[in-house]
Amino acid sequence: MKVGFLQTSPLFGKKDGNINDATVTIQSLNADLLVLPELFNTGYQFTSREEVLALSERVPEGQTTRALVKLSKEKGMYLVAGLAERENGRCYNSAILTGPHGFIGCYRKLHLFYHEKQWFEPGNRDIEVYDIGKAKAGIMICFDWFFPEVARYLAIKGADIICHPANLVLPYCPQAMITRCIENRVFAVTANRIGTERRSEETLAFIGTSQIVGTKGEICYRASPDRDEAMVVEIDPAIARDKNITPMNHLFNDQQFQIIASVT
Ligand code: ACM
Repeated sequence: MKVGFLQTSPLFGKKDGNINDATVTIQSLNADLLVLPELFNTGYQFTSREEVLALSERVPEGQTTRALVKLSKEKGMYLVAGLAERENGRCYNSAILTGPHGFIGCYRKLHLFYHEKQWFEPGNRDIEVYDIGKAKAGIMICFDWFFPEVARYLAIKGADIICHPANLVLPYCPQAMITRCIENRVFAVTANRIGTERRSEETLAFIGTSQIVGTKGEICYRASPDRDEAMVVEIDPAIARDKNITPMNHLFNDQQFQIIASVT
């Protein structure tokens, strides 16, 4: 199975251009599954709720979902991409999944980072794992990495691959995702952005270093901190279904704690 990511540098608010740039890159790639960054179409640093409302879209009716559905159908590939979702006047930091047969699903970020709390509601839907033919895929968004329960819950629900759109500004995530993969025996594709945004007093610098990590924590590929990139690697998702750590240790059967996942 060929999985990969786009590492992009969106211009804030320039949705048409950002969608077009990603489309041109995706057109040139051969993959089963591609992950795009969090809020890839709008940029990240909102300054008001009005701005988020204006740039957000309904899912699946909105411009970005329609564009990615079209692309998924043309290319016969699955796409995961972050966008600002609007529903009943509320906004969510979401990621959609599209596939060769159209729109599949939408994940709403559970753990909002810093000023995101001023613009978005935390996710209010169950976390799904999707059958994408060659694998089962789950989605979490950026800061969700800090809460290991999300990756664990996805693994328990059967995800082979965690698709992880991100707009990382803290330095820890690329190393931490290695542990998320080891402790859950899953693959992870983190798609981050590069560049800076300064739309308020605060400059945000995004760390790039998007990556694809294997079930034993091996870094299949890690991108640069500062260049637009796209990468596709070959993986065998079946490896993620073997949860034996040693002949006498099983990841889930050895678990001594009761896992309680609350997503309300
Ligand atoms: C983040 O969650 N965008 C840091």
